[in-house]
Amino acid sequence: MVQKTSRYSLLARYAHWLTVLAIVVAYVLVDLGDDEGSEGNSPPSLMLQGHYLAGLTVLALLLPRIIARLTTPVPPIIPAPKAIVTFAAHGLHLALYAFLLVQPILGLLQVNYAGQLVSLPWVDWSLPALVGPDHAAHEFVAEIHETVGEIFYWVIGAHIAAALWHHFLVRDNTLRRML
Ligand code: HEM
Ligand code: HEM
Repeated sequence: MVQKTSRYSLLARYAHWLTVLAIVVAYVLVDLGDDEGSEGNSPPSLMLQGHYLAGLTVLALLLPRIIARLTTPVPPIIPAPKAIVTFAAHGLHLALYAFLLVQPILGLLQVNYAGQLVSLPWVDWSLPALVGPDHAAHEFVAEIHETVGEIFYWVIGAHIAAALWHHFLVRDNTLRRML
């Protein structure tokens, strides 16, 4: 019989997989685009606007996700992993949550520091600026946004490898709890 707590809550699961989708779209669009970044005076391409939208979706999904995580029980992993594995998983999840919060905000700031507004694809509407133009701050934030983006290829890769390791080698229910 399927126990009530055998999976993460519906909201946590939807938010997790929609976030995955949005992150993949954000990475793919920025890699496909040949923009000169947010520095030039030319308007952002549709690809870059798609990158903005995907990144903002990640940010928008974070709050409901955290609420779901704090208000509903986390289903137990069966059989229970060693304490060190649980500790490592918590560290990795914390890093992922920090990424989901910080990376979109860095992106927003990067655009605004370049003196531009974050405009969305297909609609004639932009987000109000959070900060004014500042060339040095733009260079700095753009550098961090790029570096964090590169580092998290590896962190996300480690997270996926861990999920697959649980599922195929340890053969516990870690992944099924999130499906
Ligand atoms: C989780 C969400 C996001 C991820 C994973 C992400 C990741 C990245 C990556 C990997 C790059 C490429 C850096 C490079 O190689 O030059 C990039 C560039 C950029 N991102 Fe993001 N980003 C996110 C959200 C955002 C948001 C919300 C905005 C703005 C609203 C934004 C604005 C930009 C801009 C302007 C660039 C420079 C584009 C270029 O030079 O072609 N990003 N981002
Ligand atoms: C963009 C990529 C991803 C991000 C940012 C991400 C982020 C996260 C975060 C923050 C959690 C913690 C949930 C909690 O609060 O307990 C989590 C859990 C989980 N993720 Fe991902 N995830 C990504 C991709 C994936 C993929 C592709 C898989 C499957 C292959 C996966 C499988 C899981 C599983 C099984 C859990 C539950 C782990 C546990 O309870 O110990 N994730 N993910």
